[in-house]
Amino acid sequence: MASDKTVVLITGASSGIGLESVIALAQKSPDFDILLGSRSVEKGKKTLDDIRSSHASSLKGSISLLSIDVTDQKSIVAAKEEVETKFGRLDVLINNAGIIVTRQTDTLTKLRETFETNVFGPAIVTETFEPLLKKSSNPRLIYTSSDQGSIAHRLDPRYKTKYKIRGDYYRMSKSALNMLAACHKVDFAEWGCKVCAFNPGFCVTNLTGEAGRAMRIQNGARDARDAADALVEVVTGQRDADIEKSGIVDLDGGVLPW
Ligand SMILES: NC(=O)c1ccc[n+]([C@@H]2O[C@H](COP(=O)([O-])OP(=O)(O)OC[C@H]3O[C@@H](n4cnc5c(N)ncnc54)[C@H](OP(=O)(O)O)[C@@H]3O)[C@@H](O)[C@H]2O)c1
Repeated sequence: MASDKTVVLITGASSGIGLESVIALAQKSPDFDILLGSRSVEKGKKTLDDIRSSHASSLKGSISLLSIDVTDQKSIVAAKEEVETKFGRLDVLINNAGIIVTRQTDTLTKLRETFETNVFGPAIVTETFEPLLKKSSNPRLIYTSSDQGSIAHRLDPRYKTKYKIRGDYYRMSKSALNMLAACHKVDFAEWGCKVCAFNPGFCVTNLTGEAGRAMRIQNGARDARDAADALVEVVTGQRDADIEKSGIVDLDGGVLPW
């Protein structure tokens, strides 16, 4: 069944920025078919039920659940086949799922897990969904990255609050993700796909667990809805001038250096 709406897939949408982006898009317009990507079907169903009961009167676009674990190739292929059967194409892919490994474990495990989810996952998701994006008349590919992955910022002591933050493995993964976005920005321009890396800013989410959530609130992190509203602008073309620039599209406007 083809859709005349804009078909948007957001990975890692059972929580945080992904979840708020699903809500923000569905509130923006009836012209979206939004796929709420979740690695856990149970959590995804609950999330969708919660969205429907808390925002019933403001939702315009349609939302459906898509099971997708970005570290599991079989799950990615099954998700692609489901989207193909249901919609025949994909207009917007938001590679949003991401992690920070906070538990105590050895460095190699931390590095492997971080890169599996934050880099290898999005690379394989994009590769798998590329044929469906190519069937769109206005394809977009968005990578939820981070200013923590900006090498220019890492070396600049003027970014005082962030200069002392370590997070080496997470930073490395987002720098690698930025390169993936840069490669696709060049390569996918050939078939008209707009590509960007997006910085959602420092937000209150579950990225660093319950303790991290409290720390984020204490340190003035923003509501994830701010990031979601900016993502909606990227999806709807309001930030196309920034996408054309070289850099990470920032939630507050403009781009950050790679
Ligand atoms: N929050 C910030 O301050 C901040 C700043 C810069 C960038 N970011 C980036 O924003 C993105 C969203 O993070 P968030 O802050 O919203 O954190 P979050 O609340 O923890 O959300 C992360 C989402 O990713 C999902 N996920 C994790 N591993 C996955 C996998 N293997 N397959 C599919 N989904 C998976 C999680 O699913 P479960 O619910 O099943 O765990 C969750 O839905 C990440 O890429 C993060 O790096 C966040």
